[in-house]
Amino acid sequence: MDAELIVRCPAKLNLFLEVVRRRPDGYHDLDTVMQAIDLYDDLHIEPRPGPALTLECSDPSLPTDGRNLVIRAAQALRERAGCRGGAHLRLVKRIPSEAGLGGGSSDAAGAIAGLARAWRLGLSSAELADVAAAVGSDVAFFLTGGAAHCTGRGERVEPLAVRAGFHAVLLCPPVGVSTAAAYRELRFPLTAIEINSTMMRRALGEGSLDALGRCLFNRLEPPAFRLEPSLAEVKAQLAASPLLAGALMTGSGSAIFGLCRPDDATRARESAATLRAGPVCVVRSIDHGVRITRG
Ligand code: C5P
Repeated sequence: MDAELIVRCPAKLNLFLEVVRRRPDGYHDLDTVMQAIDLYDDLHIEPRPGPALTLECSDPSLPTDGRNLVIRAAQALRERAGCRGGAHLRLVKRIPSEAGLGGGSSDAAGAIAGLARAWRLGLSSAELADVAAAVGSDVAFFLTGGAAHCTGRGERVEPLAVRAGFHAVLLCPPVGVSTAAAYRELRFPLTAIEINSTMMRRALGEGSLDALGRCLFNRLEPPAFRLEPSLAEVKAQLAASPLLAGALMTGSGSAIFGLCRPDDATRARESAATLRAGPVCVVRSIDHGVRITRG
């Protein structure tokens, strides 16, 4: 068996998220633009010969059994490949949970990419993406990362060319929003006019921060703000900052980000911290998804 692998699992921001329709299977079709950022969980993978799959996690509030997406991903991968390999997994969490930053999905993608390598499964990228899509709607995105246009439940991933990376101030309020609850809170009909991601995708290709700021949109903000009214206030205060080119809640919340120029990042972070609404950090867009390194 190989030595330990470490997989760096990045968070994401939704720069644009429109809900297109509710589907008969209870999910929703999306038109969303996701961007990976340099905030990471680390997944340490120690392959073992036996069939046991064990997980330890730096965050004691997270389950380490079959309720954790990392274990579900490992099991789904084994089933797909018809393999009985075992592993001990150690997850170092830095991405807050229930924040809309995709931490659990990224960890699952890290398990799929890392274990496929550790167990030498020889599966194609398309086969790994298939396993990822079965584990969760956002998981396939993290296999490629960078920026992508995601449709279907979110599992159909089309990478986007980005002209210039960007910085963002990320504020993580100490409240979680359940994704399922936010979708349940959506009120139909959603809109009288069609809103789609075309302008946002164009803005990414052009690399103008102001254009990106103008195209920020998230259909899940109103339901998340109904569930957690304090978030609406935080978003309004961030959006009013002259140092930020627009602010938005990511995914189903609760994290809220504002785009900024590199030279303004420190002042924008300090200004966001004065809101006392939760921990604040500066993040940068990255051009990749989960990455495997040797231990
Ligand atoms: O796919 P995932 O397990 O990440 O989704 C979590 C929950 O979010 C689902 O159970 C569903 O209620 C909701 N969801 C949805 N439409 C999507 C993605 C998620 O309704 N496209």
